Amino acid sequence: MTVDLAPPFPGEPARSSVKTAVPGPKSEALRARHQRHQDARTVHVYQDARRSVGNYLVDVDGNELLDLYGHIACVPIGYNHPDLTAAWKDGRFDWLMGYRPALGVAPPPEWVDLVEGTLMAVAPSGHTKVLTVTTGAEAVENAIKAAFAWKARRRRGGASWTDEDARLAMLNAQPHTNDMQVISFEGGFHGRTLGALSATRSKAIHKIDFPAFDWPVVPFPANRFPLADHTAENQAAEARALQSIEDLLVRDGQRVAALIVEPIQGEGGDRHASPEFFRALRALLTKHEVAFIVDEVQTGAGATGTFWAHEHWGLPEPPDLVTWSKKFQLGGVHLREEFMPAEAYRIFNTFLGDPLRAAQFRIIHDVICRDRLVEHTQRVGAYLLEQLSELVTRFPATFSQPRGQGTFAAIDARDGATRDRLLHDLRQRGVEAGGSGDRSIRFRPALVMAARHVDEAMQLFADSARAVG
Ligand SMILES: Cc1ncc(COP(=O)(O)O)c(C=O)c1O
Repeated sequence: MTVDLAPPFPGEPARSSVKTAVPGPKSEALRARHQRHQDARTVHVYQDARRSVGNYLVDVDGNELLDLYGHIACVPIGYNHPDLTAAWKDGRFDWLMGYRPALGVAPPPEWVDLVEGTLMAVAPSGHTKVLTVTTGAEAVENAIKAAFAWKARRRRGGASWTDEDARLAMLNAQPHTNDMQVISFEGGFHGRTLGALSATRSKAIHKIDFPAFDWPVVPFPANRFPLADHTAENQAAEARALQSIEDLLVRDGQRVAALIVEPIQGEGGDRHASPEFFRALRALLTKHEVAFIVDEVQTGAGATGTFWAHEHWGLPEPPDLVTWSKKFQLGGVHLREEFMPAEAYRIFNTFLGDPLRAAQFRIIHDVICRDRLVEHTQRVGAYLLEQLSELVTRFPATFSQPRGQGTFAAIDARDGATRDRLLHDLRQRGVEAGGSGDRSIRFRPALVMAARHVDEAMQLFADSARAVG
């Protein structure tokens, strides 16, 4: 297969190189200092931010690692992209140097330009409004709040609340509100703040000891791969999942304000469902007047080969709310007009996002468009999937289930312990990769990953499989 290369990244190393154990002595010394005040056990390496370039993360020990993980899917156009560094140097972010504005109180005019010219330029089709926040979990929290406000107003026949409603709200005792629910899927991940956490179902460690809303969970059909070998079984699983959602809505639909779903379950183990499933889901939610929240925090901004992953579904009617963060550098929610709360201050906080990050995203978006990085990701993603399938054929005892959309891809290891050994070994060979679910290795590279990076990765995966697989 011939794969278009992305424009070469100036200054990128020819390939990864490892000089010490990873993490090396300088990383470990920093960890010891760091651990005194924060929990540094999750840190893979300490990164040399200035020397990292393109697809290569450089650590403080001088190791140059091919980065397939991208800070958990957050690096859109590689490290230190020349357009971003030029924007810093030529003063395009000057208006943000002196203070961080409270955007709901006294935003500078540049913010309005960013909202109009960049954040709305990427809005999902059918969406006319955008809320801005800082993180993915905050985006989810506020999408859920907007859905609740929408549902409550509908239950009141379109009217605003009464004085009695306001009195009860102050006692945390609103009838018909405190019983409202959000449906989420087994294996779904939507963040760790208290509201979002009630929709998160990926791992107990995130939830244990924290009080949760009593919201329903439904099975995620989680297609098996290769799709062609599992058609009947996948279709049956999707039909069962849809039936259980419908049963729930028929039984108790009045209480359900929203359903939230990731286009591909990321943290939960790269679990996919078909476009047909999502189209049927959309129709079901419309029928039962339930808001459809698509959580694109991890999938948004091009990685799946379309700007939004939900574009793959061919929905006749758009999602009602779409949450995003990570590659966007700030967080936010795009919404259809009727989901924007009618009253001011319903969704509000001090910063309302981060204009510096939005200004960086403007440059990132310009580069994505100019260099046609979404189309590029489609082509490199197809190549990556082909290579992952070959890896499975070569090492069937170690790897299985190659899957992906664009470069948002994954492969399963035999079991969790093998996956963890592989991740450690890969790092020693110069690959920074991450896990998802209980035994998957996930690919979340920048949109500038090219075919040569895939080739390098596959060679090192093969070496690793031989050594520890
Ligand atoms: C789909 C999804 N939603 C929400 C979140 C939460 O984002 P954050 O960690 O920025 O709060 C994540 C983070 O990984 C995510 O993948």
